[in-house]
Amino acid sequence: MRFTIRDYRPEDFDTLWDIDQLCFAPGISYSRRELGFYIRRRNAFTLIAEVGDASHKTCGFLVAEAGGDHVGHVMTIDVLSQARKKGLGSLLLETAERRMRTAGCNLVTLETAVDNAAAIAFYKRHNYDVINTFPRYYSNGVDALVLEKNLLPVVASR
Ligand SMILES: CC(C)(COP(=O)(O)OP(=O)(O)OC[C@H]1O[C@@H](n2cnc3c(N)ncnc32)[C@H](O)[C@@H]1OP(=O)(O)O)[C@@H](O)C(=O)NCCC(=O)NCCS
Repeated sequence: MRFTIRDYRPEDFDTLWDIDQLCFAPGISYSRRELGFYIRRRNAFTLIAEVGDASHKTCGFLVAEAGGDHVGHVMTIDVLSQARKKGLGSLLLETAERRMRTAGCNLVTLETAVDNAAAIAFYKRHNYDVINTFPRYYSNGVDALVLEKNLLPVVASR
């Protein structure tokens, strides 16, 4: 399956909210108000992943922020279950990391639930390190892991 990435348009909102409800349990999924708040935040950007055929069906998205403090933040990555394990999450994350680097970010951080084994494996695969834990971060009482990744190019030592 081939995918294309494009920027968010306001008419995407209902589809993104539906996808978020499917991807996360109650207490972790966003309310419409929260999702709208994150998408509209200053320095935020939202990437939409579509199936690369005539249907242009939206099958995933990412909301992130490229902060003025040189630190990027991924708010959420959501891939519909039928589109998972095909490289789409990676395409979204790598596109977001490139955009953050271009905006001058040296570092990217994010949070994920301690019981989200798929997400933890996914971020480890993308070289994120666990740096902290936020107890009872989610409204269902689950703790969050805080992960970060250095976005600066690695300079080979001699
Ligand atoms: C986490 C998520 C975004 C991954 O998206 P994806 O499109 O399936 O990811 P990819 O296909 O790019 O996976 C890349 C690598 O991540 C790891 N990975 C992804 N899903 C995994 C899983 N369920 N179990 C173990 N490892 C996994 C693997 O190393 C995989 O590489 P491989 O396919 O060569 O084994 C997706 O599962 C999802 O949307 N989950 C629900 C929402 C969520 O938890 N979002 C993240 C928290 S904000």
